[in-house]
Amino acid sequence: MDNPDINVTKLELNRHGHKNSDSAAVGSSTNPSRLSSRLPGFYELSIRERLAVVAGLAGLSETDRFHVGHFGSLNGELADVFIENAVGTFSMPLGVATNFLINGKNILVPMAVEESSVLAGASHGAKLARMGGGFKTSATLPIMTGQIQLFLKSKCDFDEILSAHKPDLIAFANHGHDRLIARGGGACDMDWHYIPEMRSVVIHLYIDTREAMGANIVNTMCERVSTIMPEILPCEIGLRILTNLTERRLAKAECLIPSSAFDSPEYKGTDVVDRIEKAYLFANYDVHRATTNNKGVMNGIDPVLIATGNDWRAIEAGVHSWACRDGTYRPLAVWRKTLQGDLHGSMEVPMAVGVVGGVTKLHPTAQASLRIMGNPDASTLAQIIVATGLAQNLSALRALASEGIQRGHMGLHRKNLDMLEEWASRASSNN
Ligand code: MEV
Repeated sequence: MDNPDINVTKLELNRHGHKNSDSAAVGSSTNPSRLSSRLPGFYELSIRERLAVVAGLAGLSETDRFHVGHFGSLNGELADVFIENAVGTFSMPLGVATNFLINGKNILVPMAVEESSVLAGASHGAKLARMGGGFKTSATLPIMTGQIQLFLKSKCDFDEILSAHKPDLIAFANHGHDRLIARGGGACDMDWHYIPEMRSVVIHLYIDTREAMGANIVNTMCERVSTIMPEILPCEIGLRILTNLTERRLAKAECLIPSSAFDSPEYKGTDVVDRIEKAYLFANYDVHRATTNNKGVMNGIDPVLIATGNDWRAIEAGVHSWACRDGTYRPLAVWRKTLQGDLHGSMEVPMAVGVVGGVTKLHPTAQASLRIMGNPDASTLAQIIVATGLAQNLSALRALASEGIQRGHMGLHRKNLDMLEEWASRASSNN
């Protein structure tokens, strides 16, 4: 029998999360697929109580409960502050990529990731770039874009009306954001476009969010500005939300690597450079290859975002949209052989990251990660992240363009498999 909707706040839970007198509800707990997922009041429980409920319903072992409820550096209170319905935490390795020289500065790059060979790849890519002087990076101002969608109720000259009101609308957006403005930020520009199919005007409000990623500021300003739109235009208000395609908030990294850096007993460096350029062109003309190529770039980018408590889904969305900005999905980084036969790489992508606010500020490991990098400001962090993505792509292409990735990857992967086998045999001998 399926469990009825259980008001878990009313349950008296034993240590397995079972209500002592409710064996019908939890009787099938070893088969979670048969249980109802309706748990009214679940969100009101403490994190420990929630884990007890889930453990009881799903029939989790003591070992499972230990692993889920082991908070590591994130105490239960923080986990509960970050998300709703928290039951525990999920651990993953944090490594440090070496060899990075960015604008002449040595940087250690913390990366949180579960995949073997990512750290080795980033460090190797950085070592190659270092042979040509390291990465040169830059970034635009940290300008986010908010969208305010309006549905026109009747015909009007919205271009003229919006142009006339633009300064006032920007000032209205900035109202109440004195601290941001004092730091040099705030709403600074506005434009709009029309979607004829929907008779919809879409306003883009541009906001310099300084050291913050800025999603909250942008959404708050968009909602505020939208309230006065019906006073100046015959319209109904549609959506008001930032776009993750932050095309005014970009970061760029480049490197120039002498062909001799690729010399090995098996391969001539100049041949490797040729083959890396061809690998880039393959991705440029073939969307299947571009997708995998860009997965390799994100192997470098996402782990730094995670290690610093930044929103990697936002960056993923923006970066992939950017990759097809001319209508075709293309490789994020460009690799070209120079006239001298060396390799030049460059990548510029949307990179809206913050070093203040939210998880970044509260997560002790995110704070430590920033300290490992020398406490960069948001712009420098964005540049480090793009350099890491470029290094990661370089090391993957170098391997793919010569011996293939399996030799290095499998070497590291073999170690993991050996460890897994050892764990499995230990676990079975303990049973
Ligand atoms: C594996 O995680 C990433 C690669 O497939 C990237 C690439 O093919 O460029 C090696």
